Amino acid sequence: MGYFKIDGPVSLEGDVEISGAKNASLPVLAASIISDSKVVIKNVPDLLDVRTMIDILRSVGMEVSFNRGTVEISPAASPNTDVPYELVRKMRASFNVLGPLVAKYGTAKVALPGGCSIGVRPVDFHISGLEKMGFEIEIEHGFVIAKKKNVKSARITLPKPSVGATEHLMTTASVLDGIDTVIENAAMEPEIIDLQEFLKELGVEIEGAGTSIIRIKGGVKSKKAQHTIIPDRIEAGTYAIAIAATQGKGRIKNLVPEHLNSLWEFLEEAGVSLKFNENIVEISMDERPSPLNIDVAPYPGFPTDLQPQMMAFLSISRGTSHIRENVFHSRFLHVDELRRMGAKIELSDSVAIIDGVEKLSGAPVNGTDLRATAALVIAAFMAEGSSEIHHVEHIFRGYENIIEKFKNLGGRIEYIEVNEYVD
Ligand code: EPZ
Repeated sequence: MGYFKIDGPVSLEGDVEISGAKNASLPVLAASIISDSKVVIKNVPDLLDVRTMIDILRSVGMEVSFNRGTVEISPAASPNTDVPYELVRKMRASFNVLGPLVAKYGTAKVALPGGCSIGVRPVDFHISGLEKMGFEIEIEHGFVIAKKKNVKSARITLPKPSVGATEHLMTTASVLDGIDTVIENAAMEPEIIDLQEFLKELGVEIEGAGTSIIRIKGGVKSKKAQHTIIPDRIEAGTYAIAIAATQGKGRIKNLVPEHLNSLWEFLEEAGVSLKFNENIVEISMDERPSPLNIDVAPYPGFPTDLQPQMMAFLSISRGTSHIRENVFHSRFLHVDELRRMGAKIELSDSVAIIDGVEKLSGAPVNGTDLRATAALVIAAFMAEGSSEIHHVEHIFRGYENIIEKFKNLGGRIEYIEVNEYVD
């Protein structure tokens, strides 16, 4: 347990290298369950969530090594398909091992994910999709028990373009030899395209990722698959917003710029100057931003995972901005904390109305979830005076080497360990 101590204001300046994508690594690691031979996955970020997924694969009986960004995984000799609750409780994405396990081994038991601070996180689309594919699902005592009965071809239409449900059903369908599965209203995030590339490396016939219709003809052909994870667009967007919000100047390196087109459009509208050169984006800003009206939407719309960070940036805009959160309607726990730093934000339904103020002031604040805590880090660099960000562990779930990366940009940031039980 510990907290960040950050002194502001600072204009962040310099270069930042982007790591591999957390939200591509997790589905690819879960999909490694379906391989009959060794897989090698490169550019995997060293994050708490990645380590939790690796612990889950090890609990299944798979051999997993993780060194300097490369994960090597060998199949389980005698698999255990009853995933420990304490691992699933830590990370909702763990639920996505249910389908690959039951498809490959005939049965699986995984805890239902709980809620979390960004709102209710149901898995009904996952369960109804698996049932359409012929799996028998029972839910009891907070666990989902799945059995492979008469699996069959299915056309699954998702009620919403759910990232997790799309990935879960793609991976499960990939195991069903010779069976055709179609997923309609699929999510179109770049991480889904990355998962498709990995499944193709396992010999699966799959196409359509990145569009709303994905077609899979199941069948894993055992060959040693190797895959390199795409850069993390949300990490990249977080640093881009941090440089702009602190009126700094810097280069974001090793990203895929077109994965963030919606963010670039809004930053330019706010007055930020951007220069693109292959996998580098140069950012500079020398004034308070113009106000914006943002509608969060599934990809390629403005990402919900950058909503809190953008709210910190707009808290000092020269006017009134609106952010409508259309994915997780109650993803606003960072609002009270930003208010403690002087931000003027009102909430009505799922819209945040942000009246820009001259500046923020440093304060002790509380991190509630991964991206909310990232927003508070940005606000602390913007603010006059010193801030403490408590429950900061959330940040280590999704931002590799964050302290070093912000220090390289001139940020004054320290992590203070707190010995929980000081006698
Ligand atoms: C993924 O979560 C990401 N996590 C989230 O990033 C991201 O915010 C989210 O997609 C949206 O982009 C990972 O990839 C590991 P969804 P996921 O299913 O899959 C509803 C971060 O900070 N829904 O696309 O859980 C759901 O309630 C995290 O890195 C159902 O109703 O999100 C939401 O309103 C936070 N039933 C909408 O769909 C279901 O069965 C989109 O959720 C599934 C989802």
